Amino acid sequence: MNLFDVYPLNDIEITKASFSTVWDANGQEYLDLYGGHAVISIGHTHPHYVTRVTDQLHKVGFYSNSVKIPLQTQLAEKLGKVSGKTDYQLFLCNSGAEANENALKLASFYNNRKKVIAFKGAFHGRTSLAVAATDNPKIVAPVNETDNVIFLPHNDEAALAQAFAAYGNEISAVIIEGIQGVGGIKEASVSFLQKIRSLCDDYNAVYIADSVQCGYGRTGLFYSHDYAGVNADVYTMAKGMGNGFPVAGISIAPKFKPWHGMLGTTFGGNHLACAAALAVLDIIEQDNLMKNAEVVGSYLIEELKKIEAVKEVRGRGLMIGIDLPENLADVKKNLLFKHKIFTGEAKPNVIRLLPALNLTKGQADHFLNEFKIALKG
Ligand SMILES: Cc1ncc(COP(=O)(O)O)c(C=O)c1O
Repeated sequence: MNLFDVYPLNDIEITKASFSTVWDANGQEYLDLYGGHAVISIGHTHPHYVTRVTDQLHKVGFYSNSVKIPLQTQLAEKLGKVSGKTDYQLFLCNSGAEANENALKLASFYNNRKKVIAFKGAFHGRTSLAVAATDNPKIVAPVNETDNVIFLPHNDEAALAQAFAAYGNEISAVIIEGIQGVGGIKEASVSFLQKIRSLCDDYNAVYIADSVQCGYGRTGLFYSHDYAGVNADVYTMAKGMGNGFPVAGISIAPKFKPWHGMLGTTFGGNHLACAAALAVLDIIEQDNLMKNAEVVGSYLIEELKKIEAVKEVRGRGLMIGIDLPENLADVKKNLLFKHKIFTGEAKPNVIRLLPALNLTKGQADHFLNEFKIALKG
C-alpha cells in the first residue's frame, strides 16, 4: 500500500528532538522555529512531559467518556486558571477543525440559527463546516459548499456592521482568528474584535475566537484575542495544547447550558491526552513561558524590523510573519537546507516563525544572524 500523496515533503527524516533542536537521520542538527506547525509549545521531549505521559501510559491510556475521568476535571480547572477564564466550561476533542466544528454547532444549538460570518484569509480547518468557513475554495469539496457562511473583508468594521444590519437576526456566529496564521500572520485589530463583541451582544450571535494557532500563550497572553480586552463566547484551541499529542478543546462561556448528547466524541479527553495537556500547562505556568514568548518574540520582531530587505514584519510574541519581496522567494528553502533552520511559510512569500515558547534569546540571535546571511543569497 502507498501513502495517499497529498503533502509535498522535504527530504528530511527527523529522528531525535530536544526543546527547539531537532536532528535528522544523519545526525545533522537543526534549529526548529516551526514547531511542527505551532504544535511544539513547551519544547520537544520536555522531561516533565515525557515523564507525565509515560507514567499515565503505565496506569491507563484510554477509557471512553462513559466513565468518570478526573484528569478532565483537573485539566478544566488548570486551563481555567492559566487562561483566566475560571467560569468557562471545557469540552475536549482531538483537532483544531473538530474544535471549530463543535464551536459552530454549539452556537447554532444556542440561538437556533444557521448563518456564520467568517473573514477573507481565514483558515479554520478541513471538516465540513470548518472548511466552509475557510477562505480557500481549492479545499472546499462540493459537498462542503453552503450558503450559510458569509465571508467579509478582514478588519472592516463598516462591512461587519452592514452585514448585521442587513440580516443580524439570522447570524448564529462570527468566527475569527486572533492572528490569521495560514493567511499570512495578519492580526485582527483591537477595535475590530471589540466591534464583533458588541454586535454579537446586540444580536445574540456567538463570538467564536479561533485560538488554534494563535492561542495557548504563543503571543504572551493565553488567547491573543484577549488583547482587545473583551471576552469571546467560545475559544477553540488545539495545536500547542498537547505539545504533539493530539488534543483539542473548546472553552465555553457560562451562558451556554449543556444537555446530554449535545456534543460527543470517542477519543476526546482520554487519559493520555489529558496527561499530555496537563504536563503542558504545568510547564507554561512553572517556567513562565507566556512571558518568555512575549519577551523573546518582541525582541525578534524589533530586530527583524531593522532589516531593510524585509518588506514587512507582522505578528505578536512568538507568532511572527516575515513578508519578503518576490526576489527573495528562495530564502525559506535556503534557511532549511543551507542554514539548517526550520521555519513555516504562508503564501505568497511569508516566512512564519512558530517556535516553542521557551525559545531562548541565544537561539533567536542565531536565527537573526543566519537570516541576514540567507538574505544575501
Ligand atoms: C487557525 C486554525 N484553525 C484551525 C486549524 C485546524 O486545525 P487541525 O489541523 O488540528 O484540524 C488550523 C490548522 O492549521 C489553524 O491554523
